[in-house]
Amino acid sequence: MDLDDLRQREFAALAGHGIFLNSASVGPLPASSVAALGACNADRARPSTWSLDRINHILGESRRLAARLINADPDEIALMPNTTTGLNIAARALPLRSGDIILTFDREFPANIYPWMGLSRDGVVLERIPPTADGWPDEARMMERLQDPDVRAVTVSLTQFSSGYTVDLAALSRATRTLGKWLVVDAIQAVGQLPVDVKETPVDFLACGAQKWLLSPWGTGFLYVRKELCRVLEPTFAGWAAFMGSDDYTRLTSYDPRPWPDARRFELLTFPIQDFAAMNASLELMLEVGVPCIMNHARQLHRAVIEAVTASGGRVTSPQGASGSAILCVQPRGDVVSAYAQLQSAGVHCSLREGAIRLSPHLFNRHAELERVAALLGAAASG
Ligand SMILES: Cc1ncc(COP(=O)(O)O)c(C=O)c1O
Repeated sequence: MDLDDLRQREFAALAGHGIFLNSASVGPLPASSVAALGACNADRARPSTWSLDRINHILGESRRLAARLINADPDEIALMPNTTTGLNIAARALPLRSGDIILTFDREFPANIYPWMGLSRDGVVLERIPPTADGWPDEARMMERLQDPDVRAVTVSLTQFSSGYTVDLAALSRATRTLGKWLVVDAIQAVGQLPVDVKETPVDFLACGAQKWLLSPWGTGFLYVRKELCRVLEPTFAGWAAFMGSDDYTRLTSYDPRPWPDARRFELLTFPIQDFAAMNASLELMLEVGVPCIMNHARQLHRAVIEAVTASGGRVTSPQGASGSAILCVQPRGDVVSAYAQLQSAGVHCSLREGAIRLSPHLFNRHAELERVAALLGAAASG
């Protein structure tokens, strides 16, 4: 796929607005998603165009496309408004008891901490494993702690928000399967920039908002629930459409107490249909380009910045290789905050996270943009 051509076609709105390197914060909507949003909203002025079939088709497509991205089955996908809701549902659905320990890494994004911390009122303990000397997740220590019989579950970000560190999901999946522990994954910083395959590396829950790497509207996302768990875990919040028979609008008050046998039992209707229609356009685009292509492109873009930062005496705080991601965090020599301010005033959109400048290039970024950032960072270090 010609990414320059794609940029012209789908991301022309970025032109003239500086250099956008902030998809780990919020991704831009492609033109086709903006068009889908506009078309849906225009039709809301005439609700008769919104048949139930049309709504169900859009939501079905959302489940199908989200499933394709992570190689799941569509009936393992519950649509969600964000990552946080998915993680809260996972935390409340698992049958945890007083004395059970949940393992996580210190420095996780708070969306993956508070839902589990909240279980302390039931006596469930959230144990945060301290980082390595580099400030990264200590996966070796996690493996040791997993041997403790009181440890019942692990909840981790696949890719960390403040370093771009990607955990070895295959190793974690194997260990939790062997030891009979649940594995919950916050995948918002990974899906879209990194191939994820829940058949190859099974997990129990995977929560993902679509507003970042998936280039979709705020308020869209999904929760993957492993098929076998869908059948046995009760819906933690009772969605009115989560129960059998709720698709027959002529007899909604029959109140069938049986939840759907698939992940829909965790869904909380009514959804923002227009936003999911736009998410579908974005996911189709991403699947057309291919996640491996996005991953390779983003990592090639890193090179110029890595060279400039290291050559000028700064530090790259993201890992490279298998533990890396499309997120590149750097601490240029000198004052990081003022280097960040200089990037901002030069029109570079990025983030300052936990003492480092976070650059998150995506499929629409070009080498020339990263070369410009490299030059600015080099100049900041010598100035
Ligand atoms: C790792 C991680 N989890 C979750 C979120 C956000 O969660 P939500 O989709 O609920 O807003 C972020 C946003 O920065 C994040 O980096």
